[in-house]
Amino acid sequence: MANVKIIQTASFVPQKVVTNDELSKIMDTSDEWISTRTGIKQRHISLDENTSVLCTRVAKQLLTQSGWSAESLDLIIVATMSPDSYTPATAALVQGNIQAQNAVAFDISAACSGFIYALEVAKRFLSSPDIKRVMVIGGEVLSKVLDWQDRTTAVLFGDGAAGVLLAKDETKQSQILAADLKTFGDQGKNLIAGTTQAICQFPNTRDEKLEAFQMDGREVYKFATHEVPASIERACQKADISLDEVTHFILHQANARIIQSIAKRLKQPLDKFDLNIADYGNTSAASVPLLLDELNKKGQLKRGQIIVLSGFGGGLTVGTHVIKF
Ligand code: ACO
Repeated sequence: MANVKIIQTASFVPQKVVTNDELSKIMDTSDEWISTRTGIKQRHISLDENTSVLCTRVAKQLLTQSGWSAESLDLIIVATMSPDSYTPATAALVQGNIQAQNAVAFDISAACSGFIYALEVAKRFLSSPDIKRVMVIGGEVLSKVLDWQDRTTAVLFGDGAAGVLLAKDETKQSQILAADLKTFGDQGKNLIAGTTQAICQFPNTRDEKLEAFQMDGREVYKFATHEVPASIERACQKADISLDEVTHFILHQANARIIQSIAKRLKQPLDKFDLNIADYGNTSAASVPLLLDELNKKGQLKRGQIIVLSGFGGGLTVGTHVIKF
């Protein structure tokens, strides 16, 4: 397997901010309930920018920051559970928007683990001699798939996109060390969105309404607090890294309490578990790279540090990367 380095990080969120207090004016909820149960204080909501628009903003930033030309990209992967359409893929729209005519582009659907899964696919592609430069983005406009009458899910999510540029690095000073990915399809019913019915409409005009987001929050909570620490332990073991060597645990931002519970299970200090859920809510596939970019831009990540990225969610899925940043 090639040694793969994260070259750049970038992110973009829609301008509009909706606070918990604002939500409590349109549904039976409160800032107190949302913030004590989840840690969320506000989220960014897209008014008219679709997922590909947010992802294109990230793609352009990544190119500007790195000085890479769009034509030099070999592969673009977008992880999303809220694509613009069944087809074309959101990644193909981004490829067209930035005119990366030499890049192959496709989407990955693994909900909140999507970015983690996409990173592994990218790493494997980079083992091929003809793939040198890869862009991986996680992007979501979840506000368009939420049921805004359902307080049990609507308060939890937000919109945004973030991503990375990857390339081979033979110096081994920075590299993605090991991964652990696992899927639990038998538990998929605990988190569903956009279900279509296989009912033949012939010869009528289609009257399709995709089902909105539904989640059994308690089951997903139990899944996350059990499976995420197990995945982190397996990935660290594969990388031959002890948990104490990890400086930053950059976890999917679904619920601050889930992260506290994971820290406790791993017997690691909570201050190694970075949080930005208060500002963005759960942005699914965008959440891990959004936090990664925030820490990177603030200068809190140093080259050579050991960091862990871990996601979990719809599928159900879980995934972890151990990275020498
Ligand atoms: N405001 C006020 N009250 C509410 C709200 C709300 N927004 N939502 C639910 N309630 C009420 C419920 O109706 C219930 O009332 P009752 O006791 O009178 O019936 C009470 O609050 C408790 O509801 P629970 O669902 O039991 O609340 P819980 O403590 O389990 O917290 C939560 C819910 C925050 C969703 C939690 O279960 C959770 O975080 N689960 C994990 C979700 C997650 O991690 N998802 C990530 C995957 S996302 C992805 O892959 C896209």
